[in-house]
Amino acid sequence: MQIPALAAVVLAACIACASPPARAQAPIVIKFSHVVAPETPKGRAAEHFKALAEQRTGGRVKVEVYPNSQLYRDREELEALQLGAVQMLAPSLAKFAPLGVKEFEAFNLPYIFPSKKALYTVLEGRIGRNLLQKLEPKGITGLAYWDNGFKIMSANKPLLQPADFAGLRMRIQASKVLDAQMRALGAQPLALAFSETAPALRDGVVEGTENTPSNMFTQRMHESQAHLTLSNHGYLGYAVIVNKKFWDGLPRELRSILERAMADTTAFEKAIAERANDEALEAIRRSGKTTIHTLTPAQQAAWRRALAPVTTQMQARIGQDVVEAIRHAVAR
Ligand code: LMR
Repeated sequence: MQIPALAAVVLAACIACASPPARAQAPIVIKFSHVVAPETPKGRAAEHFKALAEQRTGGRVKVEVYPNSQLYRDREELEALQLGAVQMLAPSLAKFAPLGVKEFEAFNLPYIFPSKKALYTVLEGRIGRNLLQKLEPKGITGLAYWDNGFKIMSANKPLLQPADFAGLRMRIQASKVLDAQMRALGAQPLALAFSETAPALRDGVVEGTENTPSNMFTQRMHESQAHLTLSNHGYLGYAVIVNKKFWDGLPRELRSILERAMADTTAFEKAIAERANDEALEAIRRSGKTTIHTLTPAQQAAWRRALAPVTTQMQARIGQDVVEAIRHAVAR
């Protein structure tokens, strides 16, 4: 009996040496900052990614989502990402010029995409992939494109003809292409952070703006805009980006789980974006605060004529090769 008892003690001691008491490991935290409301396509997708990432990594990764510019406004969030203060963002494609990648502004050119299908040919094809690659030397890895939709215009007067824009102070995202677009219509563009837009409309700092219905409704912009025009003159979408050092430093296995979670979230986002915008437009209509206008074919033609010079003006800034490649891709 002596020998087995001793063996048991030795065995227990060996097990204790081989595996020290398990200590709960702190999860890896991904701070995901964005500027819009949780109910928007981007806000819902951020929450979807959080749920997938946390569940599929068994809690080894924790995603903290900060919506509505809670942490940073537009420009600041890009700096915070590069400094590593946050790990993930999904800025609008209009907001990449401060990183020195002006090519993304091609997505803001008026009427460049005749349909969502044409847009996706570009985003998911070689052009979209090459653009994400251009972020790498900036310390940023591009993971995916997320959709929002085509933009509408708003003001306190009907915007039916280009002449209706004369002298109107219009809020834009900080993009030279959008600046040129508003000037081509005869308006005075003013670049404001997204978080400043609804208050600026309320206080009369600006008189109108452009955005998607989901962004307008969730910030209640329509409450101080009596007229909306369903112009669909330009596109609003996002690139989901991460701090490259952080991403490359993740254990390989976790990174591939997160890449899969991002791919699945992107499919989810693409499936909900259009419906979310249709519902937001319907909610604006039901609010009774805003008259919604549809352009006649003649009015549409006049908008297109007024905005046609913008692409020529902006081509040198964006890169003629990118603009031509997009034109070629959407014509196929
Ligand atoms: C805006 O500033 O209007 C948009 O970029 C906000 C957003 O992220 O959709």
